[in-house]
Amino acid sequence: MKTNSLGLDVKKTEILAAELNILLANFQVYYQNLRGLHWNIRGKRFFDLHVKFEELYNDSQLKIDLIAERILTLGGRPLHTFDDYIKNNKLFVGKDISNDEEAVGLIVNSLAQLLKIERVILKQSDEALDEGTNSMMSDFIKEQEKTIWMMKAWLEEEI
Ligand SMILES: [Fe+2]
Repeated sequence: MKTNSLGLDVKKTEILAAELNILLANFQVYYQNLRGLHWNIRGKRFFDLHVKFEELYNDSQLKIDLIAERILTLGGRPLHTFDDYIKNNKLFVGKDISNDEEAVGLIVNSLAQLLKIERVILKQSDEALDEGTNSMMSDFIKEQEKTIWMMKAWLEEEI
């Protein structure tokens, strides 16, 4: 097995960096979905939701940077153009959403898609003994599952 200077399998690390780039692209679409919701939300719950969406996009911006820098740590190159993000996007793109329930529904939907990608990376990083990526994924997964619970509670829907 050929290893890199981190002591990780070269081939498996390349695959992980590529998968992390897909996560990065999808996170950027999630971020942009949240900005749209923050801007366009209307109605009696405006003040609560406007602030909540800002909190979420600030958090996702931090995660975007963590993903990109993990890719670099693994010897990869993070995608950074809108072009590449759209090409790799698996999320529903929310446009002109001003209804509060539709907005929260979009967040639940986006997070569910991100979780799918993260669980693939969780498994691959476990197999590659890449603890750094693995623990990052478990942190993201745990936080996003909690956010889904809260959003579902707000929607008065079952998990
Ligand atoms: Fe703002």
